Amino acid sequence: MIKLIPPDPKYKLSFLEGLQEFQQEERSTELELEDLEKNFQSFVKKQRNRSKGEDLPEGFVPETIYWLMDNDDYVGRVVIRHKMTEILLREGGHIGYAIRPSKRKKGYGKNILKLALEEAKKLGLKKVLLTCNENNIGSKKIIESNGGVFQDRVFLSAEKPYKLRYWIDLT
Ligand SMILES: CC(C)(COP(=O)(O)OP(=O)(O)OC[C@H]1O[C@@H](n2cnc3c(N)ncnc32)[C@H](O)[C@@H]1OP(=O)(O)O)[C@@H](O)C(=O)NCCC(=O)NCCS
Repeated sequence: MIKLIPPDPKYKLSFLEGLQEFQQEERSTELELEDLEKNFQSFVKKQRNRSKGEDLPEGFVPETIYWLMDNDDYVGRVVIRHKMTEILLREGGHIGYAIRPSKRKKGYGKNILKLALEEAKKLGLKKVLLTCNENNIGSKKIIESNGGVFQDRVFLSAEKPYKLRYWIDLT
């Protein structure tokens, strides 16, 4: 059975295995495996505090982080940002997700967004912005299959792919 849960120290081993997979594809930059192994409890607490507007990196808005679990296996993570900044409106949107490499192309991506939309509604958001790089076929399909209404295609810089912006109405 799959479900979203707030970060939980109980799943340390599975989370760290997933993190190692992300690091192998050079995705997770802010987390050091060695530090985490030693201080997992405190890491989890800080991740959870972000939804209260505490322990946020510089410039971050309050955000709620969930882990997607399939029974006891850590599958991926999703973050719901409580409000928008100019940069988030242009690039990041309200919801960001990642499925660990070994679990991709099995439908978890579509499900993580579906479940996150239910949580976003509970947080009181009325409509959410979803963005993805134009060349990210998987993410584009995930957004469109969850009812994303295409807004536009944004030019960011010559080095970056175009960003696609979609809105999903939660009312
Ligand atoms: C993008 C990502 C979340 C997709 O997760 P996933 O679990 O593989 O997604 P799903 O299995 O639900 O696949 C959704 C659809 O996209 C397709 N798809 C997934 N990855 C794909 C890829 N790399 N290339 C082409 N199609 C892909 C699937 O086949 C499926 O197609 P279908 O609707 O025709 O069946 C995952 O690759 C990931 O975490 N990438 C890194 C982080 C990232 O890009 N996050 C999104 C930022 S906007």
